[in-house]
Amino acid sequence: MKAALVFESGNHRWWVLHDQDERRVIDSNVYLVESNGQSALVDPGGFEIFPQVLSAMAEVVEPSSVKSAFVSHQDPDIASSLPLWNACNAEIEWHIPSLWEGFIRHYGALEARFAGIPDEGGTMVLGGRKLEFIPAHYLHASANFHLYDVEAKVYFSGDVGAALLPPGHSIWVSRQLPDSSKAFDENIQHSRYFHERWMPSNEAKKNWIDRVRQLDIDYLCPQHGAIYAGENVQRFLNWFDGLTVGSAISR
Ligand SMILES: [Fe+2]
Ligand SMILES: [Fe+2]
Repeated sequence: MKAALVFESGNHRWWVLHDQDERRVIDSNVYLVESNGQSALVDPGGFEIFPQVLSAMAEVVEPSSVKSAFVSHQDPDIASSLPLWNACNAEIEWHIPSLWEGFIRHYGALEARFAGIPDEGGTMVLGGRKLEFIPAHYLHASANFHLYDVEAKVYFSGDVGAALLPPGHSIWVSRQLPDSSKAFDENIQHSRYFHERWMPSNEAKKNWIDRVRQLDIDYLCPQHGAIYAGENVQRFLNWFDGLTVGSAISR
């Protein structure tokens, strides 16, 4: 795993920790936000990839700078590393959907510091900067949040925008090929089935798209696959708008 810079302005940075090698588990991106010397883990990942995430992270920030972790939903590829992080640093505050707290506790670390996120969302402060929890319920989990950094114009979209790409892929959609629309078409081939099958609700999708269209976003950062930048952000929202999801019963 290695770290790549997504955004930087002064003492404010977003990193993506991503895998380019052959793998035994589903490929997952872990993001890291840095603000004024404090860091937050964003969807810290599964138990299986913990050593690789920790070492990629330690190359770019001091592990002791991690103050918070954000967990978009309950899945193991996102939250099963929680007890390992907690064993390294019991001071980390875990921002998790309140609805999932009793389930996430099954990963262990009953003593971890949990801060439940209510259904309507909220904010967390990192190094003096506010990060917003944006409700994205049923996309795909019943209680599900994304993380928006208005200053960086970075929107972490969890499983929305995910693509299951072959090993060795670029972390950027628009840098895979010279033309951003061609790069988008190429990427979306690896996204279509994932969204049709894993996303359960057309109504929830429409509600989310209507809210997210109001936000100023330069980088749409999914938990699997490549990052959408610039015009590919709107291109993704338009594509998702036209897609019918919930395919296990709508076929
Ligand atoms: Fe998931
Ligand atoms: Fe996922």
